[in-house]
Amino acid sequence: MKVLVCGGAGYIGSHMVKMLDQEGHDVTVFDNLSTGHKEAVKWGRFAIGDLTEKGSLDSLFEKGHFDAVMHFSAKSLVGESMTDPAGYYRNNVLGTINLLNAMRDHDVKTFIFSSSAATYGNPIKPFIDETHPLNPINPYGKTKLMVEKILEDYEKAYHISSVSLRYFNAAGADKDGDIGESHDPETHLIPNIIKSVVGDRVPLKVFGNDYATKDGTCVRDYIHVTDLAKAHLLSLDYMNANKGAHVFNLGNGKGFSILDVIHAAENVINGKIDFEYQKRRAGDPPTLVADSTFAKMELGWKIEYDNMTDIIKTAFAWHKNQTY
Ligand SMILES: NC(=O)c1ccc[n+]([C@@H]2O[C@H](COP(=O)([O-])OP(=O)(O)OC[C@H]3O[C@@H](n4cnc5c(N)ncnc54)[C@H](O)[C@@H]3O)[C@@H](O)[C@H]2O)c1
Repeated sequence: MKVLVCGGAGYIGSHMVKMLDQEGHDVTVFDNLSTGHKEAVKWGRFAIGDLTEKGSLDSLFEKGHFDAVMHFSAKSLVGESMTDPAGYYRNNVLGTINLLNAMRDHDVKTFIFSSSAATYGNPIKPFIDETHPLNPINPYGKTKLMVEKILEDYEKAYHISSVSLRYFNAAGADKDGDIGESHDPETHLIPNIIKSVVGDRVPLKVFGNDYATKDGTCVRDYIHVTDLAKAHLLSLDYMNANKGAHVFNLGNGKGFSILDVIHAAENVINGKIDFEYQKRRAGDPPTLVADSTFAKMELGWKIEYDNMTDIIKTAFAWHKNQTY
């Protein structure tokens, strides 16, 4: 298939591009490099451009026909979304509308969207399935939910089928060490653990140790980036037989406390990881763990990396080769 990957220079998108290429698909990456890296685009062709500029999308869609579009592009820092909601609604909602309109105008009917567990807001039960109430508590989560709603309407009116995949915490890196996670600022736990033990050794901060969890630190669901990419491939097949606007959770289904992750990393490096406790961050729920039964049932999705040590090993492997 000819697949357009928007945000393919970013962390998750670049892993998707590699997998699509390995599966024999013809891939075009579209990215404005605002948080992505051109060095991460190692497969397929690369068109630099911005989703909020309609003109660059028009020329992209006029040049080549696509069978499907995967949309990873977004601003995705929760804190920044609180101080700059305008930037988030413009980039994540307006940018997506532009992309969907280009698809509508050029008769492209298959869309996969990177949604987020942030659509749920504060959990009311320990394992979150797709029937959990949707009450996002920050503009970032709201942009993801708005797009999901837009997709329902675009399916009814323009017959664009979609799968929205609500990721929990993406983690790890390509097992060959070709690509990996590199955000600036980095807000994710595993890369920050690595940064605390190599190079400049940036001190690791753990926010809150008085939550109602087994060791007082927050419990999260970490899903390997390659497992995420696999679910996208399965979603492409799924839409062949199932038109509609579908939504699936993608998570490991296991909760790891911050201390669990730190201890797993200590096993990987065979050494101690120092950290300091800080006050809780506003809006961090104690526990956030996915129930991904629906994705497993409907898509036939299977998780390869269900063990934290294996996930962390891939992150360290990338770090050894890290070029961006
Ligand atoms: N990383 C996670 O744990 C996680 C969890 C839930 C959801 N998500 C979602 O998954 C997607 C990918 O996340 P990521 O961690 O790979 O982020 P990332 O920042 O590494 O990648 C996003 C990519 O989109 C590009 N981009 C942003 N705005 C653009 C625009 N207007 N036009 C063109 N390109 C644009 C960036 O340059 C970047 O390459 C995002 O939509 C994010 O909200 C990520």
